Amino acid sequence: VVALLGPRDFEGLRVVVSAGGTREPIDPVRFLGNRSSGRQGAALAADAAARGAEVTLVAANISADVLAEARHPSVRVVAVGTAAELATAMKGAAAAADVVVMAAAVADYRPASVAAHKLTKEQGVLTHLDLVENEDVVAALASARAQGGAPSGQTIVAFAAETSEDAEERRDRARRKRERKGVDLLAVNLANAERGFERLDNAVEIVGEGGAVVRAAEGTKHQVAAAILDVVLGVR
Ligand code: CTP
Ligand code: CA
Repeated sequence: VVALLGPRDFEGLRVVVSAGGTREPIDPVRFLGNRSSGRQGAALAADAAARGAEVTLVAANISADVLAEARHPSVRVVAVGTAAELATAMKGAAAAADVVVMAAAVADYRPASVAAHKLTKEQGVLTHLDLVENEDVVAALASARAQGGAPSGQTIVAFAAETSEDAEERRDRARRKRERKGVDLLAVNLANAERGFERLDNAVEIVGEGGAVVRAAEGTKHQVAAAILDVVLGVR
C-alpha cells in the first residue's frame, strides 16, 4: 500500500546500490570479512524501487532473509563475493547509472595469496598473513565519472562507519573522506555495539558540498534510506 501511495520521484532514474560485506579468501574454507549485514543497502534498494527507480543491487554475501527485504520487480540483484568481484560489478553497472550508493563494507585488504588447499596445523603454525590493499571502488567510480565514463550529473553517495565517540571528530573524518574519494555525499554513522551493525535501527549524518552536514537522520533503516534518497534528489 505504501509503495502504491508513495511518491514516484525516482521514476526514470537508474540507481545502483552496493550492500553487504566482501569476503577475501585465505584458503578454500576461510576468509577475512566484516560484520555488515547489508540491511541498510537492501532498504535503500527497495525504497528507491518503490519510488520508481530501476535498481541494480550489487550484493556482497547478503543472507537470504536480508535479500528478501529488497525484493521488488524493479530490483535486479548481482551477487558478488570479493572486493575485486564487487569492483567489476560496480564499474559495469555504474557506467549507466544516474545514482550510485556505495553502502557495501569493502575489505581494505586481501591476503596476498590464496592457499589452494585448506591450511593445516600439520603444515606448521600460522602466525601471520601477508596482505595487499584492495582498490578503492567508490573513488574509482568517482574518477571514471570525472573522465566522462558515466552519465552527466551522476550522483555518488559513499558511507563511512566511524567509531569515534566524538561527533565533531567523526564529521571531520567524514569531510576528509568525502574529499579524498571525490563523492558528492557521504553518510557517516556511528558504528559501535549499540547501533549500526547487526541492528535494525541506524543513525547517520550526511555530509555534502563543502563539508556541510546537510541532513541528520535516525530511526529504522527505511527511515534512514528515505532521508538519503531525499538528499540525493535535493542535490541533483
Ligand atoms: N570503499 C570502497 N572501496 C574500498 C574501501 C571502501 O569503495 N576498498 C567505500 C565504502 O563502500 C564506503 C566508503 O568507501 O562507501 C568509505 O569506506 P571506509 O571504509 O570508511 O573508507 P576507507 O577509505 O577504507 O577508510 P578507513 O581507513 O577509515 O577504513
Ligand atoms: Ca575501509
